[in-house]
Amino acid sequence: MASKLFQDIIRQRRSVRKFEAGRDVDRAALSRIVDCGRWAPSGANAQCWDFIVVDDPQMRDAVTAVFQRQAQRLVDHAKGFPAVKKTYLANTVAIIIVLGDPRWKVCFPQPTTADMDAEYLDNNEAIFLCSLGAAIQNIQLGVTAEGLTSAWLSGGGEDLTNRELSKLLGYPDWMKAYGTIPIGFPAASQNRRYHRPLEQSLHWNGYQAEQYRTHEQVDFYESTLRPFAMYRDEELLETWEDREDKLGEWDAAFTSANSNPGGNLQPKADFSAPRTSGQATKRRQKD
Ligand SMILES: Cc1cc2nc3c(=O)[nH]c(=O)nc-3n(C[C@H](O)[C@H](O)[C@H](O)COP(=O)(O)O)c2cc1C
Repeated sequence: MASKLFQDIIRQRRSVRKFEAGRDVDRAALSRIVDCGRWAPSGANAQCWDFIVVDDPQMRDAVTAVFQRQAQRLVDHAKGFPAVKKTYLANTVAIIIVLGDPRWKVCFPQPTTADMDAEYLDNNEAIFLCSLGAAIQNIQLGVTAEGLTSAWLSGGGEDLTNRELSKLLGYPDWMKAYGTIPIGFPAASQNRRYHRPLEQSLHWNGYQAEQYRTHEQVDFYESTLRPFAMYRDEELLETWEDREDKLGEWDAAFTSANSNPGGNLQPKADFSAPRTSGQATKRRQKD
């Protein structure tokens, strides 16, 4: 039986984007948190990361300002994505920035014949990004273990934002801030979050086609359900008071173990952009 403490921390880790003002935390706790990132697995044990901890109030405000501009750019140029105003960052006790150092990608598989470029270059990038994701996740779990809360901001990976951050913090602009983790004392309790039931995502000894989610189900999530699934303090869609209104004909697909009763799989399509518009994308439609 896995340790209950471990299971609790996994479940308690939450993106709470509201912090109490006027609090601080000592550097020993922040060091323990970063040490969790240091212990993450990485491809070829390359440890392709560095961690910048911003706990100086002036620097924290400057980093916050960078992310406020980043959030506004999302609103202006990536309409439809439920962008969060980054003003709450001002109440963080510290911000940890996880830098990815691309030089270490030389340690991952390199194609030596041109016909295998796609095979290995894609995989090389995946190993790099997954390694950074493991470090960011470990840090978020470390934050939880300290009784604090955090979020995982990916905007530092955008070129303009990264350039501003590199100038401000002094790292080479060819490194990238793939993860920015504001840390604070939660000002709101957020114990739950929608997670697909285990019986939907767990496949024993092979892929169960009845658990496949159709292209249309993905479209519905992206266009309509997403902002509610992202922010509500509920794990199960069954407990939503407006379940019928929000899920409609998609109720069974999202709440039962059988999202695809016919068991038919679909061919690949163009997944590069949203295919439909719904409530969540109405701004994109309007403009
Ligand atoms: C790769 C990645 C990028 C994310 N980027 C952002 C982000 O830029 N801003 C944000 O507020 N949350 C971001 N999140 C947090 C997710 O929205 C959040 O984890 C998800 O909605 C589930 O909520 P939970 O963390 O409370 O379980 C990101 C999470 C991941 C894994």
